[in-house]
Amino acid sequence: MDNRPIGVFDSGVGGLTVFREISRRLPNEKVVYFGDTARVPYGDRDPAQVVDFSRQIVRFLRTRDVKAVVIACNTATAPSLPHLRAENDIPIIGVIEPGARGAAAATRNGRIGVIATAGTIKSGQYPKHILGINPELSVFPLACPKFVPLIEAGRTHDPETAAVVHEYLSQLTAEGIDTLVLGCTHYPLLRDLIAAEVGDGVTLVDPAVETTLELMRTLREADAENGTLATPRHEYYVSGDPAFFRDFAEKVLPCDVPDAEKTDIEKY
Ligand code: DGL
Repeated sequence: MDNRPIGVFDSGVGGLTVFREISRRLPNEKVVYFGDTARVPYGDRDPAQVVDFSRQIVRFLRTRDVKAVVIACNTATAPSLPHLRAENDIPIIGVIEPGARGAAAATRNGRIGVIATAGTIKSGQYPKHILGINPELSVFPLACPKFVPLIEAGRTHDPETAAVVHEYLSQLTAEGIDTLVLGCTHYPLLRDLIAAEVGDGVTLVDPAVETTLELMRTLREADAENGTLATPRHEYYVSGDPAFFRDFAEKVLPCDVPDAEKTDIEKY
């Protein structure tokens, strides 16, 4: 048993969709969440800079004595995962391999769309992992750089966002996909608009589900599950405005969200 918390981080509020899944399936585990809301979006940044940011965040999370870290951000997972694993003696879990597994298991016609930030798409990681599971599959990757700014602005249901969803996704439905990976942790917040656009015939894969299953397996194998049954008091840290973050988190998470603490992440 290990009662220390799990660190979860993202460039902003997107990682809350992974946190939500973790708290559903692992209700006893305490989470320390860091959202880099002052430096979001990561999607167009140089991969080397994203690695530096991820290292700072993991150093910060380790000051909170976390027993594992979930990189709840595809854009950070793509360049950082091997570095963070090599440099840390605790389990580090990314979202891309789990997302690829979920997609390969879900498709029936073998045609999988992947939507993500420009950084994730340029990394080529989703096609690599999906084809690594089954080389017969066809993968259609598409960068959707307009999504994250709209989501961070809270515009998850407005008509302009619906028009942007249509502009991007009509390109993928035209390819006959039957499975679509939400390859950015912000995108499940657009799930309603995306589902309406692609219709019932397309299965939406949220990598948060497989990521949480991997976290569960990792904790079980290391005998590192939390042994206390009390409701955990999660902690929230951000590099930007704590009030904005709290309002957003209250809408996404099933639990009450206390004030987030502003953190000078550049110090780490
Ligand atoms: N939520 C992040 C992801 O999963 C990306 C958002 C950003 O561009 O910072 O890729």
